Formats: sequence, structure tokens, C-alpha cells
Amino acid sequence: GEGVDLMQRSWPENGPLGTFDRAAVQRGFQVYKEVCHTCHSLNYLAFRNLAALGFSDQELQAIAAGYKVPALDDEGQPIEREAKPFDHMPAPYANPAQARAANGGGLPPDLSLIVKAREDGLDYVYSLLHGFGDPPAGHQVPEGLHYNRYFPGGNIAMPQPLTDGQVTYADGTNASLDQMAADVTQFLHFVAEPKLEERKLTGLKAGIFLVVFAGVMLAYKRKTWRDLH
Ligand code: HEM
Repeated sequence: GEGVDLMQRSWPENGPLGTFDRAAVQRGFQVYKEVCHTCHSLNYLAFRNLAALGFSDQELQAIAAGYKVPALDDEGQPIEREAKPFDHMPAPYANPAQARAANGGGLPPDLSLIVKAREDGLDYVYSLLHGFGDPPAGHQVPEGLHYNRYFPGGNIAMPQPLTDGQVTYADGTNASLDQMAADVTQFLHFVAEPKLEERKLTGLKAGIFLVVFAGVMLAYKRKTWRDLH
């Protein structure tokens, strides 16, 4: 950053035994689908990965069927077909040139790893979504760019994507800007680190093993040296 303090939040999936808040991550997926996906790809996400959020096979098929993916017909001609759960989320633009053309020259990055690619990525993405507004006096924003106090340099090619009520949440949660920003950040974390919970559980098991093993070794040592004073 540029010395601007990020907004901070305690993310439920952080900490040694943290787990994803599945309801929040599902809401975040809705925000991504309905808002961010207009401009940002999520190349690493296969629809079936969403099974970890509690979606049934049927729900996954329905979600996937909402997208078209390029395919070949029997004659080898390019066609489009409905996506299946094994497909990856199709990108909004055919290529970077088209993406830039649609965004005033700016390139919306793929969001699959964005929370890892930026320092303090969770707080950063969350802050960035809050950071739009009028520039401070004397700060010039070039034509076609937007002021965002958390973006390095302050001028970003992304227009403010979220305002209160932008989506209507399927679970009835009030879609404040803050709620959507937090939810989509948690979703993007889930996409970047789908094995986070497994990894933490493995660490816990290793920790328990080490404590028990140290105890066994201590008992063994005491037994071995019991008669030597
Ligand atoms: C950049 C998130 C919606 C266009 C970015 C960045 C993030 C982000 C994290 C990277 C900032 C950086 O480089 O540090 C999101 C999220 C969205 C969303 C979470 C939905 C809530 C949109 C939409 C558009 C858009 C709808 C197009 C209308 C862009 C562009 C950039 C960008 C052009 C490149 C900015 C630059 O390099 O100046 N976005 N975005 N984004 N986004 Fe979005």
C-alpha cells in the first residue's frame, strides 16, 4: 500500500482452527456471479468445486447450466453448449484485448488468486470495494479512471461495483455494501484456498501427535533412568 491503513475484519476462516462461513461464501458467490463476473474471470473455479459449500449435485447442474462454454460439434465445428459441473467458470471476455476494450484500457484481473496476490489480500479486497469516492482536494483523476483511496496511486480503471442493495440475497440477508464486500471477499478466499480447512486439520493432528509422542518419550526416559540417581 501507499501508507493508507486498510479496513480490517476478523475473518472466520483465519486463525489456527478457522473454518469458512459457508453461508457467507455462498452469498459471496452470488455477488461474484451477479456483479463481478461481468468483468472478471475466475478461471480456477470449476462448478463442482462449489460442492464444498453444500450445494447438491442438482444445484450444481443448475448453476453450471446458467453458463455457456465453447465446445466442438460432431463435425469439429466450434459451438457453444450449456456448462456442466466439471466445466470451469467461463470468462466474460474472449481475450485480454476485448477485456481492455470494454474497460477503457484497464484489464480486470482474473480473481482466482487475487486474495493471495495482494498483501493483506482479504482486508485489501474488502477495503477496495469500500474505497470509492471523491478524491481529496488537488488530486486529479484522469478521464476514464475512478478514485479509490485503497488502490495504489488512487486512480483505478474499475468503476465502483457495489452499492447498498446491489443484489437481492437468496437467503434474505440485507445486502449492504459492507455485507456484500465481506461476503465476496470470503468467496474469493475460498476459491484461492479450497483446502484451507483440511490443511488446518492436518496441522492440528500433527500438533496432537507431537504432544502425545513427547509424553511417551518423557515416560520412557523416566523409566530408563529411574534407578540411576
Ligand atoms: C480490478 C475486484 C467488479 C473492472 C480489480 C481488482 C480487484 C477487483 C480485487 C484488482 C485491484 C488491484 O490490482 O489491486 C472486483 C470485485 C468485483 C469487481 C470483487 C465485484 C464485486 C468489477 C466490475 C468491473 C471491474 C463489474 C467492470 C465494470 C475492473 C478493472 C480492473 C479491476 C478494469 C483493473 C483496474 C486497474 O488496474 O486500474 N477488481 N471487481 N470490476 N476491476 Fe474489478
